[in-house]
Formats: sequence, C-alpha cells, structure tokens
Amino acid sequence: MSHAQNAVLQLNKAGSSYFVRSYAKINLTLDVLGKRADGYHELVTIMQTVDLYDTLCLTITEKDCVQVICSRPELSHEENLVVRAAQMVRRSFSLTQGLLIELYKRIPVAAGLGGGSSNAATVLLALQQWWRLPLSLPDMLAMAASLGSDVPFFLRGGLAVCEGRGERITPLAPHWPTKMRWLLLLKPALGVSTATVFRSLPASDYTNGTCSQAVHTALAAKGQLHLEHLHNSLERGVLEQYPEVAQAREALLRAGAPCVQLSGSGPTLFAPFSLLDTAAHVQQRLRAQGYEVYLTCAIHPNGVDISFF
Ligand code: C5P
Repeated sequence: MSHAQNAVLQLNKAGSSYFVRSYAKINLTLDVLGKRADGYHELVTIMQTVDLYDTLCLTITEKDCVQVICSRPELSHEENLVVRAAQMVRRSFSLTQGLLIELYKRIPVAAGLGGGSSNAATVLLALQQWWRLPLSLPDMLAMAASLGSDVPFFLRGGLAVCEGRGERITPLAPHWPTKMRWLLLLKPALGVSTATVFRSLPASDYTNGTCSQAVHTALAAKGQLHLEHLHNSLERGVLEQYPEVAQAREALLRAGAPCVQLSGSGPTLFAPFSLLDTAAHVQQRLRAQGYEVYLTCAIHPNGVDISFF
C-alpha cells in the first residue's frame, strides 16, 4: 500500500460508516446463442437498471474480517457475494481493517432481478470510492466478472448490451421508450436457481440474437420499439417448468398488461406501461389477488437523466 492510501485510510476510523444503494435490473431481451466449452452459455442481453434498491451500510471494524448482517437472515453468511467482494478488495490491497456490511434487502431474492450481483458490484464501487483505492475500471471489471456474470453490468448500470456470458458490457445512451415509462414487476412466490434454468435449456430455445439486435438498433436510433421484439430465451422453459410463473403471467395479462416478459432466469415477470395510473390500477388488481408486485421505472443510478422517446 502506498503512503497516499495510508493517509486516506487513516481518515476512515473504526466506527465510520458509508451508506449506499444497490439497484435491481430487468432484461429487456435475453438471447441465448449456444453453449460454450466452459459450460456457460453465450448470451446477448439488454439490461436496464430499475428504481428498486437494497440499502447497504458499510462500517469499519477493528476485527480482521468481513461480516454481513442481512434483513433476510438466510443471507447473513460468508458466502454472500458482498462478503466475497469485500474480501477480494481487502486481499488486493493487503488491508487489515475489518468491515461490517449491513444489507437491507428490498429486491426479491433469486428472482431474476440481479439483486445479489448488484450488491457485490455496489461493495466494489463503495470501497473504491470511500477508501479512494487505485482500482482502474479494467481491474474492477475483472474482479466483478470473477464474482458473477451479471456483476460487471452493475458497476455502471443504466442501459447496456451485455455479451459473452454477460460480462462484456457495451453501455448505451440513456434513452428509454415512452411506452415503457412505468414497469410492473411481479415476483411469483418461489425462487429459481439460474444454474438450474440454464442446465435444463434445450438447444431448440437458442436464437441467433436477432431480437436483441432489433431492440439495440431501435434504442440506439430512438426509433420505434416493437414489443414483439422483447424476447427471453429462458422464458419458455421457465413457464413450462414452473406453472406458478405461467399462472402469474396470465394474471398480469388479464389484469390489463399490454405485454409480459420474464426477467433474467426469473421467476420475476415485468410488464411495461406508458401511463402511471394504468400501471397503478393493474398493480392494485394483482395485489388484491395476493401477488407481490412492484411499481417501478427505468433509472440511471448515477443521477444521469433518461430521455424518453
Ligand atoms: O455467473 P453466475 O455465477 O452468476 O452464473 C450462475 C450459473 O448460471 C452458472 O453457474 C451457470 O450454470 C449459469 N450461467 C450460464 N451461462 C451464463 C451465465 C450463467 O450457463 N452466461
């Protein structure tokens, strides 16, 4: 560690805390192109950050360890990605100061909304900024990719095309279609394992990426976005394997959603709306049926304005 870092680290005494938000994402498209030799699947997916977030409070401790306390007790363990992210940073700089991570979860868990990946990216960014660590973007991206395929996206967030196993990010300008100004997220009452969903994906569900290409082109040109171009290669299998998700999809359509799609490996479904009152009305109808439904919107986490078209 250099003297400069030492000087900065001395400012952060045991007991000082840093609060930060960690946002969820949806997958506007997710094309699985095929299976790779390393067991992962080759993807093209367009992801967008949404205004649904967990809150993290990082506190420096005198113990030489990282501990997480989560509002969902089943996540308070050292395999939690936030602990692995913090340990990675501490190891890289041979830091001995300990860290307590308090994690208030609002993003549903194992839901296809990237909550765990977002939490890990948030810890990397928070420690880099708070402790002013000389971590370059390539360093951060490599650390993020080693934690999980979705983690690199969350280092910047916003709107991006993600390729490879999901870790190769091309940021897009923050333009978003007006017809998707409001988003309902419906989380069926089950958790789904990403690994299981990918493992049971038949080759007949692979695509050549044309849907992602069409949506990318429309977003880049601020042209018409056709809702029928929204596609998720994992959706057919998830709807077949988990009837609760298929029922929830029907319920959303019956309640007035113009279109419904699975986010990531699910089971969360999202539906876009141009008008807030329509979205709120549909949310109310679904909540009356006992569904867990969030009303949210696309955002850029760094406060950048989104222009709608
Ligand atoms: O990268 P991550 O650990 O989040 O991925 C979880 C699991 O999902 C992987 O172990 C793999 O089984 C599957 N996966 C995949 N192809 C991808 C991303 C994830 O097969 N592109």
